[in-house]
Amino acid sequence: MAENCQEGIDDRWAALVAERFSIEVDEQRNGAFVANLVSYSRRIGMDSEELFDRATTRKLDASHWSAIVHLATNHETKFFRYMPILSLIETLCLRKRNPQVLSVGCSTGEEPYSIAARLLRSGHALFRVHGTDVSRSCIEKAQAGVYKPHPDMRTDIAANTGNGTIRIHQWVRDAVTFEVHNIMGDMPISFTSPDVIVTQNMLIYYKVETRHEILTRLGMMLPTNGYLITGPAEDAAWMPESLERIPNPTATIFRKV
Ligand SMILES: C[S@@+](CC[C@H](N)C(=O)[O-])C[C@H]1O[C@@H](n2cnc3c(N)ncnc32)[C@H](O)[C@@H]1O
Repeated sequence: MAENCQEGIDDRWAALVAERFSIEVDEQRNGAFVANLVSYSRRIGMDSEELFDRATTRKLDASHWSAIVHLATNHETKFFRYMPILSLIETLCLRKRNPQVLSVGCSTGEEPYSIAARLLRSGHALFRVHGTDVSRSCIEKAQAGVYKPHPDMRTDIAANTGNGTIRIHQWVRDAVTFEVHNIMGDMPISFTSPDVIVTQNMLIYYKVETRHEILTRLGMMLPTNGYLITGPAEDAAWMPESLERIPNPTATIFRKV
């Protein structure tokens, strides 16, 4: 009986975030999502039923919704997480005077700053990297640019703060901008004509049709000859009309024709 009730709660929360934000919580993460919601509701002095009631009667404010969206999504990331895609971005940007790279689902910013490090180290004095994520708390951490030290985040990119962390230099943070944005929502991203769009480890949490819809939206943002990159097989066999697939063993790459 209690189990059935728990199952009911699981389904209702997943259905709610799907309806409100078009965010999918897959079965594997659903248990953790609901458990985290129970802890969150306690932290804010409610029980989870009250939180759910308020959520369905429009009595939650934006900060509560932002926390719920954060709990519904996985934010795992690290600096220089997947070298083949970083090398690819570096190569595609080599001949651009002022490359513009968009990272969608950037979590706490390690991916955009890793791209910036590669662009800088390949000789680009001018560039823009723009990171977007649906989680406001992730974007706030990215904008602050304070992290645990990493051997490849050297002094050209960041400085020691003196208290066991590094901070990305201000001038790098000026070139790497961030935005809270839901790629399944209706608002456009505030970054036009990216030379390269990368989205890694985000599509895997969505159903095949949703992955294709996200890729279609990203493809529409590209100028002619712009590139859309995702992890190997993350595109779930997407077959776009206005982009050509570039065969590559280590990534999925499309070019706008
Ligand atoms: C696992 S992290 C991947 C971070 C980084 N791209 C990497 O590969 O290390 C996935 C991120 O996608 C974000 N995300 C999920 N759905 C999203 C959506 N609809 N719009 C924007 N970001 C989304 C999550 O908030 C999360 O921070």
